[in-house]
Amino acid sequence: MSKHWHLDYHTDYALLTLDVAGQSANVLSQEVLLELDRHLGELEGKPLQGLIIRSGKASGFIAGADVREFERITDPVRATELAELGQQVCARLAGLPFPSVAVIHGFCLGGGLELALACRYRLAREDAATRLGLPEVRLGIHPGFAGSVRLPPLVGDMAALDMMLTGRTISAREARRLGLVDEIVPERHLLDAAEKFLKSGTPRRKAPWHRRVPGWRPLRTLVVRMFTPRVRRKAHPDHYPAPWRILDLWRDRATEKQEAQSLGELLVSRSSRNLVHVFLLGEELKRRGKMQPHGIEYVHVIGAGVMGADIAIWAAHKGFRVSLQDQKPEILARAMKKAYGFFKSKLKEPRAVQEAMDRFMPDLEGHGLGRADLVIEAIVEKVEPKRELFRLVEQKARPQTLLATNTSSIPLEEIGTVLKDPSRLVGLHFFNPVAQMQLVEIVRGAQSSEASLARARAFTGAIERLPLDVKSSPGFLVNRILMPYLIEAVKLVQEGVGITTIDQAATEFGMPMGPIELADSVGLDICLSVAEELSEPLHMDVPDKLRELVGQGQLGRKSGQGFYRYNARGRRESPSPDKTAADIPITERLILRLLNEAMACLREGVVGDADAVDAGMVYGTGFAPFLGGPMSYIDSLGVTGISHSLHRLMQEYGPRFKPDAGWSQPELLKRRLRSSNPT
Ligand code: NAI
Repeated sequence: MSKHWHLDYHTDYALLTLDVAGQSANVLSQEVLLELDRHLGELEGKPLQGLIIRSGKASGFIAGADVREFERITDPVRATELAELGQQVCARLAGLPFPSVAVIHGFCLGGGLELALACRYRLAREDAATRLGLPEVRLGIHPGFAGSVRLPPLVGDMAALDMMLTGRTISAREARRLGLVDEIVPERHLLDAAEKFLKSGTPRRKAPWHRRVPGWRPLRTLVVRMFTPRVRRKAHPDHYPAPWRILDLWRDRATEKQEAQSLGELLVSRSSRNLVHVFLLGEELKRRGKMQPHGIEYVHVIGAGVMGADIAIWAAHKGFRVSLQDQKPEILARAMKKAYGFFKSKLKEPRAVQEAMDRFMPDLEGHGLGRADLVIEAIVEKVEPKRELFRLVEQKARPQTLLATNTSSIPLEEIGTVLKDPSRLVGLHFFNPVAQMQLVEIVRGAQSSEASLARARAFTGAIERLPLDVKSSPGFLVNRILMPYLIEAVKLVQEGVGITTIDQAATEFGMPMGPIELADSVGLDICLSVAEELSEPLHMDVPDKLRELVGQGQLGRKSGQGFYRYNARGRRESPSPDKTAADIPITERLILRLLNEAMACLREGVVGDADAVDAGMVYGTGFAPFLGGPMSYIDSLGVTGISHSLHRLMQEYGPRFKPDAGWSQPELLKRRLRSSNPT
């Protein structure tokens, strides 16, 4: 009995269609692989002219191996066996006595592409949805179904290394150019073309000789040396071993056996475990963004500053009609220019750029208000102007229009007092820069209705951002956790520790950027206003240094000078190296303040569970993904050790290190977003 694969015989070829039961996308679980193996066994003895493999899912060919299965494996030997199973099935496919062809549409990733690589030919459907790639490295592993062995001879060594090291996906057209697919075919001709290939007797493709030159033994060490600085910039070998393994495997011309063994070790490593955790958290948030229809076509954004402009541009980029309002025409003109530049760089094709521009309307008078399904406010961070604005918005907007504020720190209840119906108001808290930061905090005010929150989540999903539910409380989740860490960094500066020393400590820990550079990038004025907003509820004092710099107009990157200096293009100038940092425990002070605040948020129920803290910090700030987020990191260190360290720091540096009450409630760490229902 076949559960996932459907086998049909045509006149002289067989057609295997994968339609994994109970899933919207095809993934290669062990069960799916074993079933394929049985079918291949049956086909081997048949007098066929060929085999066509395709997917029965609209979403695509195969999205990869079943990541959820990875989590259940704790033994490297078991993990190696899983890779060996995949390799055996692929070898059986490659060794069939007749040719085989993979007919690819939509996603063809990871194990799915490795399966396709085992076929003699690959055909891809001609459209933008077709994406091929080996993204394993992003999960802290590398290909394990012989992909690292089969890919280089097909596309050339440099292209293969690039694909495996970056994990990027490529279009059908690029895949054709590389030789990864044999032909691009319109949907209606796919099966005919596949049949033709089976009969053609064309030999399996091989990259032209010059693309295989880097693989010559004497050149390989040189090539690895060439890739090394690029890999080092992205992946510290202790934090992200996978890309280094990819280079090793390639340099040593590893066999399938070695590939499987290396994969087994990586799959159970801390880095991979945590990257898988982070990936699955992202998938869960994505799922929450797709649970309901949002009924939104037209978005009106008010305030065309840093955030408003970017939010409006992003929404138009994702297909919404958007009007953008500001008091000042010159600010709208700047936003239009920015939009054009953005669409041009992303969409490239002039027609697509024009269509996006047509969806994006400057709106000085606010005509869009009466038409919008969603209004997003992103004006100055002050209560009174926001109240004033919402009073007007409620008068002009239609009753069913969802109202949202992008405030970073003002409680929704304070803004909502002016509304007749405050249940319509939610927070949609985007992060800067909108195009890069995937997270959006969905802020639940005391009066926000479930229906409004659900629409806000669905809209966030529709613009391909990740919605995270947070309670309306000072700083919500992400800024609140980040602020004590940033403040501690400024305190270190006040104590005389050099800025590069501080930033280096954080990046060596695994942060994408040091706290000082981050503060400069966010804008020191914004940091100061959030810090002041949070200082009372969090009993946090604001360092004088921050006030001093803002007072002098040194606002960070945007003003050309903050803690660092920046050139005209916003590039950081290298400061002279710092002297010593003496014996100050820089990393410990920075990170423990962050962890302590994360624990406080959890205890206070700012988010529902520990996973939500991890998701927020990784997708909202880039917190070291290989550590899985603050809560996973706490899990790995142990609660007792951390609270002891906090006590020690409290004695030395004062009450700001006082361990939160949450440290004595270990059950807080157990609640899991991925296994709970959305609130
Ligand atoms: P901004 O100062 O760059 O932009 C504010 C814009 O609103 C200005 O262009 C101003 O002309 C316009 N404006 C003010 N009052 C207006 C009114 N009544 N009608 C129409 N336009 C009006 O501010 P930014 O940084 O974009 O922040 C906007 C909001 O987003 C704030 O609530 C802030 O807390 C929040 N936010 C800011 C982040 C950041 O990194 N900058 C991150 C996340 C949220």
